[in-house]
Amino acid sequence: MMAFRSDAPFESLAAKHGTPFYVYDAQAIVAHARALRASLPDHVDLLYCVKANANRAIVELLAREVQGLDVSSGGELAFVRSLGFPGATISFAGPGKGIPELRLAIREGSSISVESPTELERIIAIAAEEDLTARVAIRVNPKSTSKAFGMRMGGHASAFGVAEEDALPVVRRALAAPGVSLEGFHVFAGTQCLDTAALAENARQTLDLAAHFMSETGARFTHVNLGGGFGVPYFEGQPDLDAGEAGRAVGAVIDERRMQDARFMSMRFVLELGRYLIGRFGTYVARVVDVKETRGKRIVVLDGGMNHVFPATGNFGQLVKKNYPIVNLSRDGDPVLQDIVGPLCTPIDSLARELQLPAAQIGDLIAFLHVGAYSYAASPLLFLGHATPPELLWDGSVERLVRPSFTMAHFA
Ligand SMILES: Cc1ncc(COP(=O)(O)O)c(C=O)c1O
Repeated sequence: MMAFRSDAPFESLAAKHGTPFYVYDAQAIVAHARALRASLPDHVDLLYCVKANANRAIVELLAREVQGLDVSSGGELAFVRSLGFPGATISFAGPGKGIPELRLAIREGSSISVESPTELERIIAIAAEEDLTARVAIRVNPKSTSKAFGMRMGGHASAFGVAEEDALPVVRRALAAPGVSLEGFHVFAGTQCLDTAALAENARQTLDLAAHFMSETGARFTHVNLGGGFGVPYFEGQPDLDAGEAGRAVGAVIDERRMQDARFMSMRFVLELGRYLIGRFGTYVARVVDVKETRGKRIVVLDGGMNHVFPATGNFGQLVKKNYPIVNLSRDGDPVLQDIVGPLCTPIDSLARELQLPAAQIGDLIAFLHVGAYSYAASPLLFLGHATPPELLWDGSVERLVRPSFTMAHFA
């Protein structure tokens, strides 16, 4: 793994904004998104999945590089609409959508991924009440999915989508229902895949399934959402996923299908990516407040922990706790074994175990790399009432405060 290290001036940012903080690298984000975009054929639309990092500045930056946004709640939908993104370019997927959320999506003309027969009936009823046409995609949970996905949403009984073997009647119902326009076929099999061949195979399987459902039901989808699942290396030994290679491999599978089957010729194809677009380019920086040599261990205590950078604890979808890429920004030197913990009164606040790093001293700055996605967004920020970390966007010469620090009083 080649960990991405921003050229942001961490020391001076810490002096100016205090610690801990997040900093995102705008130039790298844009360059990476463009490299991926350039590798994909024109008939592929790229969506940014807002839940990975919903910071307004990040959403606005990435929205300029992609063709639409993927949201997972009515809150995210209302948020991106408030930023001015057209409802028609938004895709809304996720289990358990409430009636107000579905109503909002129908009013905004967004594409709704149908996750269950019950949800389809709700959509039909709301569309009738509103006298509007609901744009829907059927989300299918395939019978099997590749083991190369670090986190799998399909291939087993799950809340995500309609099981492949149960989906034909749901598609037929959507086709026949008044007030519903069945436009899309959607499979999100899983994520955190670092294997280009597996991503291409996943695309092939999804296109096979879409063809099968069109043949069986007479549906003519205007788009197939292939999910995505492009991963970010977090741990030692994990390979990088090259944007050009991955994009070209998936694009080639799509092009081959278009040549073979005329039904795919005028379709759009969608990739919805969160972590791949932002994960590498976020850094969390905290300061060492205490160092304890105790019972043969060196324990380094930071001024921020799981409350800010929860995935580093290994409790966010990891089977085995491994150390994130972590750097001592304040000193070089021979690595020594140390554990890194946050300031919370819980043993879960363990950020790295038996890490080899130059011996951290009180006052040192410690950086966690590759924490742009599902990190600020997935952390229990209120737990224990520390201030939240400010978020900065570094553009190569100057930083912009894109979300301030909030204190307990703000939420009380
Ligand atoms: C339906 C759907 N789309 C997109 C994503 C984004 O995944 P990632 O950020 O790993 O690309 C997820 C993640 O869980 C998802 O469930």
